[in-house]
Amino acid sequence: MEWLKVIAMEDRTADRPEDTVVRMVGINKSFPYVQAVTNGFFELRKGEIHSLIGENGAGKSTLMKILYGLYQPDSGEIFIRGEKMDKYTTGRAIRQGVGMVHQEFMLVNELTVAENIILGSETTKALGFLDLAKARTMIRKYIDTYHLDVQPEKIVNNIAVGEMQRVEIIKALYRGAEILILDEPTAVLTPQETQNLFRVLRSMREDGKTIVFISHKLGEVMEISDRITVMRGGKYMTTVNKADTSPAQLSRLMVGRDVMLDTRRVPAKPGEKVLEVKDLFVLGRRALSTIKRISFDVRAGEILGIAGVEGNGQSELAEAIAGLLEVQEGSIQIDGTEVANQSPRAVRDAGLAHVPEDRNQRGLCKEFTVYENLSAVRTDDRTLTKWYWRDEKKIARYGDGVIAKYDIRPAEGKALAGSFSGGNAQKIVVAREVEMNKKLLVVAQPTRGVDVGAIESIRGILNDVKSSGHAVLLISADLDEILALSDRICVLREGRISGEFDGNNVDIEKLGMLMTGGDEGAKAAESAG
Ligand SMILES: Nc1ncnc2c1ncn2[C@@H]1O[C@H](COP(=O)(O)OP(=O)(O)OP(=O)(O)O)[C@@H](O)[C@H]1O
Ligand SMILES: [Mg+2]
Repeated sequence: MEWLKVIAMEDRTADRPEDTVVRMVGINKSFPYVQAVTNGFFELRKGEIHSLIGENGAGKSTLMKILYGLYQPDSGEIFIRGEKMDKYTTGRAIRQGVGMVHQEFMLVNELTVAENIILGSETTKALGFLDLAKARTMIRKYIDTYHLDVQPEKIVNNIAVGEMQRVEIIKALYRGAEILILDEPTAVLTPQETQNLFRVLRSMREDGKTIVFISHKLGEVMEISDRITVMRGGKYMTTVNKADTSPAQLSRLMVGRDVMLDTRRVPAKPGEKVLEVKDLFVLGRRALSTIKRISFDVRAGEILGIAGVEGNGQSELAEAIAGLLEVQEGSIQIDGTEVANQSPRAVRDAGLAHVPEDRNQRGLCKEFTVYENLSAVRTDDRTLTKWYWRDEKKIARYGDGVIAKYDIRPAEGKALAGSFSGGNAQKIVVAREVEMNKKLLVVAQPTRGVDVGAIESIRGILNDVKSSGHAVLLISADLDEILALSDRICVLREGRISGEFDGNNVDIEKLGMLMTGGDEGAKAAESAG
């Protein structure tokens, strides 16, 4: 059976021009500080899953936004099913059956899932009112056909990210998508959810739909793709059949040299307690994520990793420490100062730097420049002022240093933060917080959406922060990241610490059990109290 499938796939990817549903040729697109796409080329065949890969800022999202009609190219041609597209807009793209699920979701939190799905779609507009009954039937059909697990009646605010993504997918299908672009869909998913998404994508492929998949995780790319297109620095590199390539070849094509992700833990020299959390109780957005009286501490010169499946209280924990979420009971001390229920500003003054998991909502002021974002948190920094005024020259000099150190691209401090690619925006947030040089650094999902090269450098920076004697609380859904960096590991499950490990001596199987609450995990958690 496996053989037959392989042959069928080979057949599908064979050279048959009549199967070409999209051809983008000679695409150029420039923005104020960069040429994002240069002589771009992209070709899609009906019924394939086609990965688009490349470093942060390589132009992947831009090229796909052009295909979705969101950006107008400066020059170049787009053909859909052989027909040349003129005056191409999003409306036209949707009528041509192109749908896109963005890197950042675009749902209205206060509305239900069903309302979000039909919002703004052509049929609604034509009718002038919401035909909810008909919409529900259609939504139900998609849910059943592709095993998309969503609950149409729920308010979006109350659903988890994985479900939001499925809602975005149904929304695109509802508008008639035959060609579906998914921009880094797995960045926010647990491994389990990623597997579910892949099942959905495969069944859509069976149905003749064509899928573009963007990801920085080569393992996923090798698992799901029929073909792979590589971009580097805005240029088209090549398109290969999955069967003819390897992760090593792909990363060479993306980066131009060999990359090896091999972060080593540096020995810890734990000093005094910098963060002390005692009997903390914080109401969660969902029952599972309520923090239920947990206690732990982080010492100077060590990294404490919080492992766990997302949605088990990680976000609430970080937000409570940062003064962004109300604490019901218990205490949080930073360097001996009680900070529970203090303002974010007061918590910073007590010694906190914080890389939030959601760089869009909390991480950056998109309408401000990189210089402004980097310096805004340093209001007391005398090296950036002249008398009492901000000194733009000093700020620029400081900013340029940070941009170089963190390899933020493009290296343009005057560019607006909102104009950076996903991974580069993440680097700006990490840079700003780490450079505050605070006693405690709380980082949530620090390498989400960044490319392999940048993962390496951000992890190196976290090690440096620790070596220089600061305390680091690392919250990450990426178990490899936790294992690579942590001196100690606490497992958070359903708002409780279900186990603790020494970073040098981890029983990975047991750790996995404790995270998911497998049988063993449940027993261990019980006996642990
Ligand atoms: N709206 C915009 N305004 C200005 N510059 C932009 C805009 N969108 C993208 N850019 C720039 O174009 C380049 C390509 O960005 P793009 O978002 O396409 O990269 P990407 O390959 O998707 O990267 P990532 O993996 O980080 O998401 C980047 O240098 C980025 O700064
Ligand atoms: Mg992108």
